Amino acid sequence: MVEWSKIREYFPAAKRYTYLNAAACSPISQQVEREVKEYYKELLMNGDIVWKKWLEKKEEVREKVANLLNADRKEVAFISNTSHGMNIIAQMLRGKGEVITMEDEFPSSTFPWINLNYKIHFVKPRKGTYPVEEIEKNITSKTKILVTSHVQFKTGFRQDLIEVGNLCKRRGLIYVVNATQSIAAFDIDVAKAGIDFLVFSCHKWPMAGYGIGAIYINSKWFKLKYPVAGWQSVKNPDLMDNKKLDLKKDASVLEVGGLHFPGIFALGTSLDLLNEIGRSNIQKRILELNRYLIQRLKKSKIQVISPVDEKFASGIVLIKVENPQEVAKKLLREGIIVSVRGEGLRISFHVYNNKEDIQRFIIHLTKIIKS
Ligand SMILES: Cc1ncc(COP(=O)(O)O)c(C=O)c1O
Repeated sequence: MVEWSKIREYFPAAKRYTYLNAAACSPISQQVEREVKEYYKELLMNGDIVWKKWLEKKEEVREKVANLLNADRKEVAFISNTSHGMNIIAQMLRGKGEVITMEDEFPSSTFPWINLNYKIHFVKPRKGTYPVEEIEKNITSKTKILVTSHVQFKTGFRQDLIEVGNLCKRRGLIYVVNATQSIAAFDIDVAKAGIDFLVFSCHKWPMAGYGIGAIYINSKWFKLKYPVAGWQSVKNPDLMDNKKLDLKKDASVLEVGGLHFPGIFALGTSLDLLNEIGRSNIQKRILELNRYLIQRLKKSKIQVISPVDEKFASGIVLIKVENPQEVAKKLLREGIIVSVRGEGLRISFHVYNNKEDIQRFIIHLTKIIKS
């Protein structure tokens, strides 16, 4: 049994506020704060003496990310954010063909392809969802790359990655996933789903703060030319030979220079906590809070925009309110943190939330709506 109240204690922000905004950025835990402080303390006291230790620690975190995805560690590289990773993928796949993606995608999924003049086709949602048959209808002989989020940022719709993977296999498409709104909250098995490329940022569900993300590249794509190279991209960086470009044969070739270690270490520490809680417990907890929120909204006759079928459910629920900007501002005055997305309010929850947060939100929301 997970002691959720104990987990909540690790997140002071979740006690100061009714924090329903993991889909924008989660607060960090005390463990992460300690880890990052420790890094700067070492830098303060010892300078670069511990460089080798940091490099080793980076490899330990790479292993943890690989485990999260069921990938090989060689297929994982650290990046700054989703946009960064998606730009790399779009450059690697230049000339392969047209892109198909979803109408609701976050711009990090689409701008990198548009910027490189890919022909891009947007699939329209069906009641907020993207059934595989609907996606398939939009595929032409020129479509070669499918880009989808696992969970859509605007609606919380959770795609079945295995079903889409089967579609990609059947139609010979390169399968690219943006996992920013699901990673560390919902299971992802890149091998089982047949994913070719996957990217995510770590400030939402991995709770590691801004500026750290990861990319997965299936080893079959190591043969492609990488669009970047730097002194850390080669097999033996310590040679510092500025003429011999002997590139590594794995995803870490993308880590071109010195990396932002505190972000990587924050991620490692946060993944330790999430592993301790257990992935299936996290998923169950989030879905339980989702269900509870929807029940309470129904009782209060507030319209839910997100698809409500449990198989599409995620840590995000979008609800319809008049003048969402104004409502969000009034909620903020009560210490209730949510986002405005599209025509509604986006509520999102994580391991530090509980049912009391949702009750408090509903009480204030109904009061604001009635006033
Ligand atoms: C699906 C999705 N991808 C990516 C991002 C963030 O993009 P980036 O990591 O490029 O800042 C967000 C939200 O901030 C998102 O909802």
